[in-house]
Amino acid sequence: MKRLLTALIIFLAGTGNGLAAVWEKNCEGCHNGTVAPTKEELLSQHPTPEDFLDAVKEAMREEKMPPGLKYLAAIKELFGRLPVKKAHAENSHGKVHESDEYSKYKRYFTPLPTLPPIPADNPLTPEKVKLGKMLYYDPRLSRSKIISCNTCHNIALGGDDNVKTSIGHGWKTGGRNAPTTLNSGFLKVQFWDGRAPTLEEQTKGPIQAHVEMNATPELVVRRLKAIPEYVELFKKAFPNDPDPVNFENVAKAIAAFERTLNTPNSPFQRYLLGEENALTKEQKEGMKLFVEKGCIACHNGPVLSDGRFHKFKSNNDTGRFRVTKNPKDKYLFRTPQLLNVALTAPYFHDGSAKTLEEAIRHMAEQELGQKLSMEEVRKIKAFLESLTGEIPLEARTVPILPPERQ
Ligand code: HEC
Ligand code: HEC
Ligand code: HEC
Repeated sequence: MKRLLTALIIFLAGTGNGLAAVWEKNCEGCHNGTVAPTKEELLSQHPTPEDFLDAVKEAMREEKMPPGLKYLAAIKELFGRLPVKKAHAENSHGKVHESDEYSKYKRYFTPLPTLPPIPADNPLTPEKVKLGKMLYYDPRLSRSKIISCNTCHNIALGGDDNVKTSIGHGWKTGGRNAPTTLNSGFLKVQFWDGRAPTLEEQTKGPIQAHVEMNATPELVVRRLKAIPEYVELFKKAFPNDPDPVNFENVAKAIAAFERTLNTPNSPFQRYLLGEENALTKEQKEGMKLFVEKGCIACHNGPVLSDGRFHKFKSNNDTGRFRVTKNPKDKYLFRTPQLLNVALTAPYFHDGSAKTLEEAIRHMAEQELGQKLSMEEVRKIKAFLESLTGEIPLEARTVPILPPERQ
């Protein structure tokens, strides 16, 4: 009893101040109406803190929901008070056999499908992917003719550039870290601030951005039309288009190629698909912590991103606010994916975390209000390393690019 009380006091001390928005951080990622009921639905079904807590416990007992999240803090936030404790103690639930200890955590994760969703207006064809790959590697899409998508999203380096903030046209930087293009087709929105809904829209950004490739649609189209082999390739990729060499189609072809940049067969993927020994014990421990500490609340789905926006204040970059101008969106950033994250240091939208350990520690503090021990950090890191998959050979073989007409 005394232990319980002490735990409660420590708990309250830890949640009393400065930890607003527990629901948003710990719960909303799953409780968005797809995986689990929304806040409004839960509140209407469980109108008192006591009912609510019972429902939480039931969901944990049925292993529908991970243990270890800040349920009490969430309840306090939702109802303005904590549930009144019932007389009996609950302590014998949730015991599991040693052999199930890790596999029960699999249910929180989604294996990576072979392909991301393909939009109806941009079907994937071999001709289009071939063209898209050439454009991705072609520096002539930039004004200087020396910067390609692959300069900053180097497929051989894990789909990024491994520098703090990318360097583009005229050695300028946009002040943000380049995310990987690998598996980017699975993201629900593109960019750290989600300003592009699709890969097609995304692609048009960097080609024109002054700090990236600094070209114009006209310049790109003019240059491509002067390369006979490209004209042929566009005809093949867009057979029904009377004037296929246009900026829309450049974006479509590159997006189609990006949708093939998926990395199957990571140790974690193999583990999810049933290969029990694909993960080390340390990695399994890390997976367990990833669920129990609540990382899974935001990092979920096939690429471990909920595609939603969460507060992360690091410098004066206001994130989502720059797109919507809604004060509520200040310092919100889209959850990045975590596949191949071991390859893409440094981390965060501003590249401010040099190592994965630093990023993990910082996440736990900022997003979950928890301090992790060195051992916990080590285990989570080991788990994240198991997310490194195989970059398809076809994608990382540099294409031969056709010459301009003389
Ligand atoms: C990893 C995903 C996940 C996270 C994170 C999560 N939940 Fe859940 N939760 C679920 C699932 C799945 C269910 C079961 C839903 C069902 O049965 O339809 C559930 C059920 C519940 C229920 C019972 C619903 C019912 O009517 O039976 C409550 C209450 C609840 N969660 C509260 C919370 C709170 C509070 C938090 C944050 C502290 C939270 N959950 C975090 C996935 C999650
Ligand atoms: C000068 C470096 C640079 C170049 C060149 C560049 N990018 Fe990027 N890319 C970035 C940076 C930095 C971001 C993040 C910007 C932001 O979120 O505001 C980004 C974001 C992205 C994203 C979003 C990924 C995510 O997780 O949200 C995709 C996809 C992408 N770029 C593809 C491309 C393609 C395709 C090209 C070529 C047409 C390209 N990039 C050219 C630096 C670059
Ligand atoms: C409330 C949602 C939320 C929770 C919980 C959360 N994250 Fe994150 N995570 C984010 C967001 C948002 C970012 C992007 C921050 C930025 O740079 O703007 C991020 C970034 C990261 C990155 C850097 C990825 C990159 O490519 O730069 C890592 C690694 C990471 N999280 C791991 C974790 C771990 C481990 C946990 C649990 C200890 C966790 N996260 C908990 C939302 C969350």
